Amino acid sequence: MYNHKLHLLINELVPAENFDIRKEDKSFYGRFMTGIDEMDELYKVIYPENERNNQAFHDLLQSIVDAHMQRPEHLRNSDEHKQEKWFLSHEMAGISLYVDRFCGNIINLNDKLGYFKKLGVNFVHLMPVFESPEGESDGGYAISDFRKVDPRFGSLEDLRALQEKMSEEGIFLMIDIVLNHTSHRHEWAEKARSGDKKYQHYFYMYDDRVVPDAFEQAMPEIFPESAPGSFTYIEGCDKWVMTVFHSYQWDLNYSNPEVLVEMMKNIFFYANLGVDILRIDAPAFIWKQIGTKCQNLPQAHTLLRLIKLCVETASPGMALLGEAIVAPAEIMKYFGMGEYTARECDVAYNATHMALQWDALATGDTRIMLAAQHEILKKPFGTTWISYTRCHDDIGLGYDDNMIEQAGFNAFEHRKFLKEYYSGDYYSSPARGALFSVNPRTQDARISGSLASLCGLEKALEEGKAPAIKFAIDKILMMQAHSFFIGGIPVIFYGDEVGYTNDYSYLQDPGKNYDNRWMHRPLIDWGKNKNIDIEGTVEHIMFFSTRKLLGIRKEIPAIADLKNLQWLPTHNIHIAAFLRSLENQRFYGVFNFSGETAFLTWYVFKEWGRAPGKLFDHWKGKMYTVGQDDECLIIEPYGFCLLEDVS
Ligand code: GLC
Repeated sequence: MYNHKLHLLINELVPAENFDIRKEDKSFYGRFMTGIDEMDELYKVIYPENERNNQAFHDLLQSIVDAHMQRPEHLRNSDEHKQEKWFLSHEMAGISLYVDRFCGNIINLNDKLGYFKKLGVNFVHLMPVFESPEGESDGGYAISDFRKVDPRFGSLEDLRALQEKMSEEGIFLMIDIVLNHTSHRHEWAEKARSGDKKYQHYFYMYDDRVVPDAFEQAMPEIFPESAPGSFTYIEGCDKWVMTVFHSYQWDLNYSNPEVLVEMMKNIFFYANLGVDILRIDAPAFIWKQIGTKCQNLPQAHTLLRLIKLCVETASPGMALLGEAIVAPAEIMKYFGMGEYTARECDVAYNATHMALQWDALATGDTRIMLAAQHEILKKPFGTTWISYTRCHDDIGLGYDDNMIEQAGFNAFEHRKFLKEYYSGDYYSSPARGALFSVNPRTQDARISGSLASLCGLEKALEEGKAPAIKFAIDKILMMQAHSFFIGGIPVIFYGDEVGYTNDYSYLQDPGKNYDNRWMHRPLIDWGKNKNIDIEGTVEHIMFFSTRKLLGIRKEIPAIADLKNLQWLPTHNIHIAAFLRSLENQRFYGVFNFSGETAFLTWYVFKEWGRAPGKLFDHWKGKMYTVGQDDECLIIEPYGFCLLEDVS
């Protein structure tokens, strides 16, 4: 609803002498005027009117104005072009990496841009590079200074220079904002520990166990093995503080609006560094309420929408990714609902599909994967996924039991099988992974392990068996291809492009050995990576096959994420097939998740719209004439076809 007072307030915050609202600042002013009423509405849902809250709202608006004023000109210019949904493009393809483990430091990364280009990647996710205490860092997700690059990686200037170079080379940048918590060594936490009341209110701090006990009754544990419980006793101040993740990660208290304002300033700081996609770490957790699981609460969505509106006003060229790894029905809400549809997070991880791919690979059966699609396909137009097979985190089997049951399996037994299969306990499994965060009470567990090791490459290499090596590589490529063509920005986890197997050196490091996710976060050996130029090596096959897959993607506009995916009934439980279409272009992805040769009746291609006569397989470079309904396309074990209708 139009509120004149708010508009006057903007005019006060955007004084004529500093702003040229007729020319240069016109679009900013327009966006601000358009968004202010909704900002006010959203803010009041969380923070009722009182003096403190009103002041914080004023500070929030001021932070938007400051962010715009500090936004470098080239970013303001690119904001104008980036209003279109650039991230939906089929030309986007990314890699996620730890700077230090990939190439030592940020400066060295400049020399690796050529490697990314050679691979076909134009989007880089740098795992957290801001200051984080060594040994208590959770891979950088325990930040002690949001604005200081950790000296282990370099300096802020190095990061700025890298961003500039990336932008010149047409490479997009993603970094994290760790919104939910700080390190216990962050200045706010230090002040809180030393008794400063203002900063104690930045966290959830209590004198005794009464409130913590009440919270813990309903809160699930995130790391039950290494960090049980959700509160930690702080000796320095004789208080309990909420620590949902590790004991050294203190949860920020967003019921205090000052926390929101301070974190908004950090978000703008990243925006003005030139970040293209901001990965909001663990957004599901940012609102807490006794008696709930403290995840996915409506207030968390309200806050995210407010953040989105602020970003859209001051730095619209920066898209937001919500890293919510939650149940299929919950994830959709992060894209926004109702009048906020497609107006919350622009991007989210397709963690459900990722886990379902692993499910289908272990069982050779695609039925559960298909049973989950009615949820996944609800994603609104204008938003997209990160589609992936592996990332730095574990694989959670987070899809719903009813999806498993719908496919005819017993959910408990099925999950047990998957855990045994990937931890290598199942008698015929070639996988080398490990269970992560086993909950002794519920037996819930997630899975660690690299793409290659989980697909059997580690075992095959160790045994030196060529057919097994080939089989493992086929599996890896089929998994990658499936995720590259399903829709969304494919993001490769570094090392996977050359088939790195598990790295067990973390066991020797006391800062890491309590967390087996480090087994799939390799230390890159550039000597080994040189093998990409030696034909016949695993590295060569993996690198050039990955590059080929990404290349095919870029040639086919129908792969852009435009809500243009149709699953096909394949009449064969081992095969998953989908149709991607755009205008006249029709592209079929066909994937055999089993270790046996599979047969697909040509009828499958005739069931949806125009029946193709000729199909060109971009992967094999082979032309097929579509046969009779009782004839079949034959797909080798773990094989796949990337077929374009060229009739
Ligand atoms: C996210 C990160 C994960 C981290 C957690 C806590 O889920 O991906 O690595 O442990 O947040 O920050």
